[in-house]
Amino acid sequence: MVKVVLKGLIRRFADDTVVGPIDLQIEDGELVSLLGPSGSGKTTTLKMIAGFIELDEGSVLFDGVNIASVPPRLREIGMVHQSTALFPNMTVYQNISFGPEMARWSREKTIKRVEELADLLDIRQLLMRKISEISGGEAQRVALARALAKGPKLLLLDEPLSALDPQLRERLQMEIRKIQRKVGITTIYVTHSQDEAFAISDRVAILQDGVIAQIGSPEELYDNPSSEFVARFLGSGNVFTATVDSSDGKKTTITIHGKKFKIREQDCPSDREIRVSVKPEDITIGQVPDGASITARVVSVTPQVGSYRILLSVDGSTVVALTYDEDLVRKLRDSPDDPVSLSFRDSDIVILNG
Ligand SMILES: Nc1ncnc2c1ncn2[C@@H]1O[C@H](COP(=O)(O)OP(=O)(O)O)[C@@H](O)[C@H]1O
Ligand SMILES: [Mg+2]
Repeated sequence: MVKVVLKGLIRRFADDTVVGPIDLQIEDGELVSLLGPSGSGKTTTLKMIAGFIELDEGSVLFDGVNIASVPPRLREIGMVHQSTALFPNMTVYQNISFGPEMARWSREKTIKRVEELADLLDIRQLLMRKISEISGGEAQRVALARALAKGPKLLLLDEPLSALDPQLRERLQMEIRKIQRKVGITTIYVTHSQDEAFAISDRVAILQDGVIAQIGSPEELYDNPSSEFVARFLGSGNVFTATVDSSDGKKTTITIHGKKFKIREQDCPSDREIRVSVKPEDITIGQVPDGASITARVVSVTPQVGSYRILLSVDGSTVVALTYDEDLVRKLRDSPDDPVSLSFRDSDIVILNG
């Protein structure tokens, strides 16, 4: 397939820089998601790669070659837009065969290709139906088949599942991933859903106001968010302010809500105050304040799949904890106003930069 490199990509609208500078390398066969809130520049970035929006600065390289002068239709890209944009009055077959026919493929080659894709996407029984006669989930499969019809080198997907219900979305995520692996096609997947990005991607690039805040595998991002924005956006972190006390040359002591913790000196920024994050599952709740731990109050206890989500209040700020301990949950519910203790290990503290 193709290796994609984005070099200093910038796009402005009027005087506003809405994207960039973006530097990103996507390996041959890799699936990278662009994950970010609405308006963070995901669609604009994708359209610049496809050639539908011009770059103000920077370059897009396919296998090392700058494609600036290659018109969109010759870039060998398959794209699925936010709305499927299928032709409503044409059949599924006609929609999928549209690209190959425009490219003047032979009738036999076109039929063979459509059938191959219909099998891959499990839509063979729909081929003669009109788009207006199929469901939303089926339409997404057709859109994917149409995007793959001419055998592109790069697949660009712009929130392809955002209009579907959660169950269907989850199933199609897995199917897209399976097909992507099977075809081996380099893919950029745009979504505002963390679950979706984490479920299907090799790597995820988190976009914040048009620039990449952090990029890494889902595990890397979840375990080590580099900034408060990423920690909060991923919901992976409680963000605390810590004051930096002293260092013994190896470990630095910091204070969070009146309690001392030790972090590696080499990890500690030189500021007096730093921001740190701790994941909900790394927080331990004790039924009684024990002096050594932070004292908190329980705000709410909410059951969720596989665990309970406990909302706590500490000095007016909110902390989220997860627990599997049903005994604890029962006791917290029995005496909702009693103070509890909140603790975590030194090694669970992640230092945020900015
Ligand atoms: N044609 C345009 N003219 C002016 N501003 C635009 C245009 N297209 C997008 N923008 C702005 O660029 C920013 C990024 O938009 P977009 O790439 O669509 O974000 P996302 O896909 O992440 O929701 C937004 O602030 C949007 O308003
Ligand atoms: Mg968009």
